[in-house]
Amino acid sequence: MSETEQTMEQSNKYMFKHKGTYFAQNTTTAEYIDSLEDFEIRDSDVFVVTYPKSGTVWSQNILSLIYHEGHRDGTENINLIHRVPWLEYNLRNVDYVNRPSPRLFATHLPYNLVPRDLRNRRGKVIYVARNPKDVVVSYFHFSNLVVSLEKVPDFNSFLEKFLAGKASPGSWLDHIGGWFTHRDDFNILFLTFEEMKNDLRGAVLKICKFLGKQLTGKELDTVVEMASFDNMKRDARANYENMPESVLERGKGHFLRKGTIGDWKNTMTVAQSERFDSVFKGKMKELPFQFIWDIH
Ligand code: A3P
Repeated sequence: MSETEQTMEQSNKYMFKHKGTYFAQNTTTAEYIDSLEDFEIRDSDVFVVTYPKSGTVWSQNILSLIYHEGHRDGTENINLIHRVPWLEYNLRNVDYVNRPSPRLFATHLPYNLVPRDLRNRRGKVIYVARNPKDVVVSYFHFSNLVVSLEKVPDFNSFLEKFLAGKASPGSWLDHIGGWFTHRDDFNILFLTFEEMKNDLRGAVLKICKFLGKQLTGKELDTVVEMASFDNMKRDARANYENMPESVLERGKGHFLRKGTIGDWKNTMTVAQSERFDSVFKGKMKELPFQFIWDIH
């Protein structure tokens, strides 16, 4: 089978596959993804990198609060998705090249598809990971909410798709494994959803230290308060509720759904959890690190 035939086979109405990674149809192109290799990075650029449903929106908001809103510079009136836009999905055709510093971005790209400069330690990366069992549950609900994602009839079908590495952008294990194995190529901070949840103030301080930002005690309090689940859920500029109906199906749920640790236990059956472990456990052993959560 030729590479094109293979790509066609792996593409569908919702996704296309490019260089081993699945992208949402109609929101980006293979040419644009390839062009990112040469996208010039500034030392002041900051990227939030995640596998979907790992706390991206939360981290985008924290980053924006640290840089802008703690200081109330007017950006607080702009929707979060435009304050910290997607690198691979340039939804509004913004001129990223000439965007004023500090440029803040979010991305789900694997380590090998990000701009070359970033892989040469220019700019900063904050990689946020979450227990993959919570990720898969969150992702299942999310796929019913987002118009551009393929609808699956039930959780079990989605679980199998996830375990097969066929949920965009691809395999969870490859994503985190790639970024972690190549961590020395980047200026990178690894954080987990769980540590943000257990000690948000500590996580914000860690991020500030990594970014070389010194907030006053009052600014820090504001960031922590505004990044809480309840406040973000209320904050229309931060909860993605303002997305057009062409993006989000109304009445099908919320981006900020539960925001908890261990929700997988409310969804997965014992058999599904064991199935998950049977696929993941062996492969996790191949990764050069331990996880802070217990997936057993
Ligand atoms: P749940 O679906 O489990 O509730 P992403 O932004 O990567 O798509 O991740 C979305 C997940 O992060 C959702 O998980 C969402 O509720 C959770 N989340 C977003 N903001 C949060 C916050 N301030 N505190 C806790 N969880 C948050």
